Amino acid sequence: MIHTAMPAEGPLAGTVRVPGDKSISHRAVLFAAMAEGTSRLTGVLDSADVRSTLNAVAALGAVVDVSRGHGHGLDVTVTGWGERGPREPDSSIHCGNSGTTCRLLMGVLASWPGTFTLDGDDSLRRRPMLRVTDPLTLMGATFATTEGHLPVTVSGAALRALRYESPVASAQVKTAILIAGLRAQGVTTVIEPAPSRDHTERLLPAFGVGVGRDAGSRACWVEGPEALQASDVSIPADPSSAAFIAGAAVVVADSRVRMTSVALNPTRTGFLRVLERMGADVETVVGNATGAEPTGTVIVGYAVGLHGTTVRADEIASLVDEVPLLAVVACAATGVTRFDGVSELRVKESDRLAAIADGLTALGATVRAGEDWLEVDGPARLHGARLSSLDDHRLAMAWAVAALTADGPVEIEPWEAVDVSYPSFAEDLASLGAR
Ligand code: S3P
Repeated sequence: MIHTAMPAEGPLAGTVRVPGDKSISHRAVLFAAMAEGTSRLTGVLDSADVRSTLNAVAALGAVVDVSRGHGHGLDVTVTGWGERGPREPDSSIHCGNSGTTCRLLMGVLASWPGTFTLDGDDSLRRRPMLRVTDPLTLMGATFATTEGHLPVTVSGAALRALRYESPVASAQVKTAILIAGLRAQGVTTVIEPAPSRDHTERLLPAFGVGVGRDAGSRACWVEGPEALQASDVSIPADPSSAAFIAGAAVVVADSRVRMTSVALNPTRTGFLRVLERMGADVETVVGNATGAEPTGTVIVGYAVGLHGTTVRADEIASLVDEVPLLAVVACAATGVTRFDGVSELRVKESDRLAAIADGLTALGATVRAGEDWLEVDGPARLHGARLSSLDDHRLAMAWAVAALTADGPVEIEPWEAVDVSYPSFAEDLASLGAR
């Protein structure tokens, strides 16, 4: 489907509650499936990626009941497989577009007897899997990959504990190892080069499992064997989705938008710190925590005099999914905006560094991209254009934000990519006054 995003005719204003957090939704569903007993999850993101996780755990024997919640998102009841373990499904498990689903599942399945095959769509089949299968192999599981990619067959085994210095700051890698470590004898530790999102460390205790952490050494650990117990989990709004609404407000003159119940976990809110540094008007009002996640209202407004900034390599993990949006905002700022240490973007749902450079250039901006850096010159006068989303949800939404300041419509295809994380994005933007 082609989506035609129109230039803004006036300021954006109003309040939105963006959908539930994708990372926390995946973890809540997986932990509930692993647990003994029945968990009740509320505010679960209703999106293609989370549906992949729900379908996967159902295929593996968890009993899943999904209903449209009375509040936001889905109400999901999961009765886990607990000590019985997952059952071997008749066919391969299709993870769709979701890297989190397949990489976390590798950690879940590594310790159980049986053979499980994981597969995904064309985009997921291009993404690297050895970053997860290598450490899990050191723990004792066996993987047959397709030259380091999906389809991957996991043969589970009794695992050894592991102390692992991860070469990448990846919460998916960290989580897969910690989950596997829960069924190994002894302490399994992951040390990261930079702190990645810490939802696993925050959520496992709700399922009765202790997680050790040392911020100074960027280490976290579990001591196995440990069994998860069912828990009730409520899920706050996704800051990565809120980022697109915030970015829209920053670039459209005189806009001011409020986003409620947003997860304000500092491992996720790097984009707010960068927007503030660029001169945007950003206010956060911390409210009651949602479980172990700090949560609050984010108010973002347009400010005159937006300027470029350098986003350092050590900041990237805290905004890794927000670089496409920040690059669009950089087009409205005066001066150069530079991103360092962004090679991970080359192995996301698309090669996002190449895609940002191509898309913004087609819109009329001046962009330079190296192997692991990106520079955007601003201010740029953006023109209407027809752009591919490359089936990447974050690119589709970034192009829609760019359209707000362009001198003509931006046609985005395929638009359905947004279903992966934020199916109601166009409606939410329209509710604030966008066309
Ligand atoms: C995620 C971690 C990030 C992020 C992805 C979701 C998670 O990936 O890009 O959208 O839920 O753990 P990496 O951990 O590979 O950086």
